Amino acid sequence: MKFAHCKYTISLITQIIIIFYFACMHHVCAWQLTCPESSQWNLRARAFCNITKPYYYCLYDANLFHYKDFCRDKEDFHKPGNKYIIRGDIDGEPCKGNRYQPFKFKTEGYDKCIFKKSICNEEGQILQNSGNTTADNSCRCDYTKGYSFVIEPTHKCFCHPTQEDCSCYMKKCRRNEFLNPSEY
Ligand SMILES: *[C@@H]1O[C@H](CO)[C@@H](O)[C@H](O)[C@H]1NC(C)=O
Ligand SMILES: *[C@@H]1O[C@H](CO)[C@@H](O)[C@H](O)[C@H]1NC(C)=O
Repeated sequence: MKFAHCKYTISLITQIIIIFYFACMHHVCAWQLTCPESSQWNLRARAFCNITKPYYYCLYDANLFHYKDFCRDKEDFHKPGNKYIIRGDIDGEPCKGNRYQPFKFKTEGYDKCIFKKSICNEEGQILQNSGNTTADNSCRCDYTKGYSFVIEPTHKCFCHPTQEDCSCYMKKCRRNEFLNPSEY
């Protein structure tokens, strides 16, 4: 936690310190809690929850700006493209930034939308479409710079990096020959 922005008033800083102090007294330091990896989720659940509330939750608290964990008697699901956060109570929210969720989000094992969007940053690659909350970015080869797909992707003009090989190579043109979009 950095106090880089000096716009906080002293009384707010004092309040924050008091909140952190009590948060630390409570099981783990809640403000530095990181959620377990999915593979470790059950271990944490067994150590932390009991039989009456066996489902371990670890979610971002949008009001307190940190992750929070607790136990409930059921798990929750949200529709594709969304995840759960805590905003007072459990609340749904669309995937943000560079993540997406192509199938139902479940709280058992997850604290954020499941996949990180692909970055089209290999040699010759550029972003073709920036995807959405349920779909990954797609990439293409920058034909304006002479690049072409090594293996022609299913959709010919763009490529899904998680499903196929999106490598590009510099196509050598013969003299008086130019690459055009229909060719790559
Ligand atoms: C289970 O844990 C909850 C808090 O998460 C607690 O209120 C309850 O008393 C516990 N029940 C048993 C049987 O230990
Ligand atoms: C996201 O994009 C995919 C493929 O382009 C499309 O099928 C889907 O409906 C879109 N989802 C949303 C939530 O806009």
